[in-house]
Amino acid sequence: MKTIETSQVIIVGAGLGALYAALKLAPRPVVMISPERLGKGASSAWAQGGVAAAMHMSDSAESHAADTIKAGDGMVDADVADLVTQEARAHILNLTELGTPFDRTENGDYVMSREAAHSFARVVRVKGDQAGAEIMAALIERVRATPSIQVLEGTMAIDLDVTDCRVGGVVLQSADDARSAPLILRGSAVLLAGGGSGGLYALTTNPPRIRGQVIGLAARAGAVIADAEFVQFHPTAMDVGEDPAPLATEALRGEGAILTNNRGERFMQALHPDAELAPRDVVARAIFAQSQAGRRPMLDTREVLGEAIKTQYPAVAEACARNGIDPAIEPIPVAAAAHYHMGGIATDTEGRASLDNLWVCGEASSTGLHGANRLASNGLLEALVFARICAQSIAKSVPETAVSPIDVTFEDGGTPPDPDAVAQLRQTMTTHVGVVRNATGLKTALRTIAALEAANTASVSFLNMTATATLIAVAALNREESRGAHCRDDFPNTFQGQGQRSRLTLKDALAIRSQICKEAS
Ligand code: SIN
Repeated sequence: MKTIETSQVIIVGAGLGALYAALKLAPRPVVMISPERLGKGASSAWAQGGVAAAMHMSDSAESHAADTIKAGDGMVDADVADLVTQEARAHILNLTELGTPFDRTENGDYVMSREAAHSFARVVRVKGDQAGAEIMAALIERVRATPSIQVLEGTMAIDLDVTDCRVGGVVLQSADDARSAPLILRGSAVLLAGGGSGGLYALTTNPPRIRGQVIGLAARAGAVIADAEFVQFHPTAMDVGEDPAPLATEALRGEGAILTNNRGERFMQALHPDAELAPRDVVARAIFAQSQAGRRPMLDTREVLGEAIKTQYPAVAEACARNGIDPAIEPIPVAAAAHYHMGGIATDTEGRASLDNLWVCGEASSTGLHGANRLASNGLLEALVFARICAQSIAKSVPETAVSPIDVTFEDGGTPPDPDAVAQLRQTMTTHVGVVRNATGLKTALRTIAALEAANTASVSFLNMTATATLIAVAALNREESRGAHCRDDFPNTFQGQGQRSRLTLKDALAIRSQICKEAS
């Protein structure tokens, strides 16, 4: 295989964690592997709510950590929660210095949104629902102006290059032409910051390219994967037939929007004392139950926002307009959709994976912060905190010397994923590994994933998807309890006390999958 050698740090991904880490590594030379033009196609740019941080005088990092631990349902690493919440304020101030136009009150304080399971209005925002896009825009401007950062737009990583358990680089393909022949790019260190797994599901809020490939490529190289079973479903994805489903931010419920069904019932009041602001997993299951029962759940913003939704929440308003919905006079139909993967590549407190010379930050990682159920708007925060931690850790082993940019050109020779196989995989995940799970469905999913994989071995990108899908389904089968976002109707109870985090290698998961396939034959 054609090989390119460089002394740059290779960063896989182009979302918030990737951009922030690249800036924190400067002036150390970095090459970013970005499937699309910067700012397009990264989950971070689609984040509506904002970043959770105790910015108000009467709020505290301790209270933020306590809410994080409570939402995580016995699975959060308390030391990680302390670390992340303590650092939150400094990162918001840093993003402000870097040019993010956070919403401010007349006194100049940050405007704070309230989101579910936070005991305080604690989410900094930009123009209502534009936080992700605006933070990304500010960082992209800085990245473009930083000479030590080279961005390879239109490229994607499909494999790790590993020798004797040490990661030396990545295998690249053109993201624009999946028929391109793979090539090896070797660098001084590798940081994976390429997003989660939401797009492995047919119903998702994630951008189309986010299909678990980064977790899958690390797993295929032998990295340990933690908490894979914990996939968060967002309760208020708009049910308008779009793929991906547009998000109606939780901040709307923070404003007082209510959930109703086609019988006019406000069903959350009977289910939880916090009603619409109950923890996300509770609301997601309630929405799912309404959808399953044919009662068409809806988000009603009419009374609290009226016409103001159109100026205060432009992303939501635009998605409504595109679909012929006027939220000032009618409720928005919603469904529970895969939104965030709490699990991912297991990392230590320096952001290191189990393979040497490999770091991970953002949704692809599993740091222990989110436990079984991520607290709203802790995702971008974790990406910021661990991007800097990873950059500091990498900097210890990489010199500051200047390096010439590399030139990458692709030849023909690769195999793209079969769109029908991808569609079947996604439907299987939604049907059998979704909001409510059981052993029968999970085993059916594993057999289908195995069959799809066997029929599509030529596409490495597809193998990355099936690897992550296998890990999620096996971890979900192994966890014989219901906890946080992981709900088993055949094991409805939660084990007493602190939960045990799951750790799996792909080899272990494949052994279980093959046993299940044998049982059926
Ligand atoms: C939202 O705005 O509802 C999503 C926020 C998040 O996922 O943290």
